[in-house]
Amino acid sequence: MKLLIKRFNNQKVWFDEFNVDFKEDETILELLDRINRKKRDIAYRSFCRSSICGTCTVKVNDKTVLACKAKVKDLIQNEELIIEPVDRSKVIRDLVVDHEYIEKSIKENRLWFEDEIRSDIENLQTPEELAKYDKQTDCIMCMACYFECEALDYKQAFAGPFIFTKYYRFVFDSRDKSDKQQRIELAKEHGLYDCINCQKCVMVCPKGITSAFDIKALQANDKNPPVQDFGFETNFF
Ligand code: SF4
Ligand code: SF4
Ligand code: FES
Repeated sequence: MKLLIKRFNNQKVWFDEFNVDFKEDETILELLDRINRKKRDIAYRSFCRSSICGTCTVKVNDKTVLACKAKVKDLIQNEELIIEPVDRSKVIRDLVVDHEYIEKSIKENRLWFEDEIRSDIENLQTPEELAKYDKQTDCIMCMACYFECEALDYKQAFAGPFIFTKYYRFVFDSRDKSDKQQRIELAKEHGLYDCINCQKCVMVCPKGITSAFDIKALQANDKNPPVQDFGFETNFF
């Protein structure tokens, strides 16, 4: 098969081309490792190799994937594979992009327990209480949803899908004693109502998290929703 890898070295952008064997069940990360054993100068990130650390997100044949999870056989098209850095990101080198946004946005959105959970007692929850937000705790902050999110093309202030999934995780956790409406007001300052419902976040999440629905759930729990301005008179009767 033909493999193209996008390169960047601070001065120029180019593609390296390889003719490589197609290996059944090989992941994108294993393929990159195989190439790098020969070439040795392609920069890409990986750590856990098991869909936990969230560092290895890349774009393959126009789809944002976790390199350690996605299989070559599921992405190859016409015997060709194009591996590029993800969209909507600052490229540092080759396939490595800046992840600073994660820490910055977690801080700006105060995504932690505001009132400390006491460490001297058990903070018990019922299975039903846990089930309300359990799925959202699977987020590994790989940012695949963010890199695909179309709202970011129109609204620079939009915090991104995974940030709202984090909001959901605290708003629906019974152990979090902070003022839920205050959390939602902060989410509104960061674009809670700017989602355009394109569903890209749902399609790409490697953990099966549905951020678009988390956003809707947060909106539904907003006690002070904004008045919708459609830009025309809606009172026809
Ligand atoms: S919601 Fe999914 S795609 Fe988005 S950062 Fe979390 S794990 Fe990655
Ligand atoms: S559904 Fe909303 S949050 Fe998800 S990718 Fe589309 S615009 Fe972004
Ligand atoms: S290497 Fe950790 S998620 Fe892929």
